[in-house]
Amino acid sequence: MTKSNESGFTDVHCHLLPAVDDGAADGGSAREQIGIAAADGISRIFFTPHVRSPWLRRPWSEVEEAFSQMREWCAEAYPGLKLYLGSEFAFSESILREEPEKIRDMNGSGILLVEFKPRDSFERIVNACQQVQMAGYDVLLAHAERYDCMLEKPERARRIAELGVSIQINCDDIVRPAGFGMKRFLKLLLKEHLADMAGTDAHDAKHRRPEMKKAYGIVKKYTDEEYAEQLFKTNADILCKGKED
Ligand SMILES: [Fe+2]
Repeated sequence: MTKSNESGFTDVHCHLLPAVDDGAADGGSAREQIGIAAADGISRIFFTPHVRSPWLRRPWSEVEEAFSQMREWCAEAYPGLKLYLGSEFAFSESILREEPEKIRDMNGSGILLVEFKPRDSFERIVNACQQVQMAGYDVLLAHAERYDCMLEKPERARRIAELGVSIQINCDDIVRPAGFGMKRFLKLLLKEHLADMAGTDAHDAKHRRPEMKKAYGIVKKYTDEEYAEQLFKTNADILCKGKED
């Protein structure tokens, strides 16, 4: 079996925990995809199950149980691979205020992965990020390249960074950007080092596979090795340290 590399990539966003959202359907699928990730050089994986309808009634105890089973299996099969738990919070003012127990930050780090709808306005995204910050979290904006308002005016990424919000981008969008607007936006993010962390957002072995190596190679070539290392590996250290700090 391929063992993961200690200094490998960190995937900060994926849906590979079995049967907790629209990601891996069962344990077999999850294990297959973790094998793909390990073979690709990924050594740290954050499971980020959706916090949005229709999974809002799913108790966290089920997710935690699935996570601990996966961790146990992984310790045997891929001893060099480290697993962490977080969530992907589809911003909802009512959940943030009235049901905060539904939200999980990244490994107790106080950093919350937050997603929006592709057509949400820039004003809504800014306002929502500020609400999340006021609730006591730091924000990691999920797949920033998938929001129309950002693609319309790529310079808006600078405003996001000024707010103290970190930016996550998806590897498959780096490899296969969906159109000119996304390509232009990603170029600006990379050129100005505005993207902070990369993730696969993997759901299954066909769509958005848990692979980072190809995207890393593109970023390294387009920018420089130091930034590529930060984006794909070391910037995520703060999430991995989590509760220890
Ligand atoms: Fe996701």
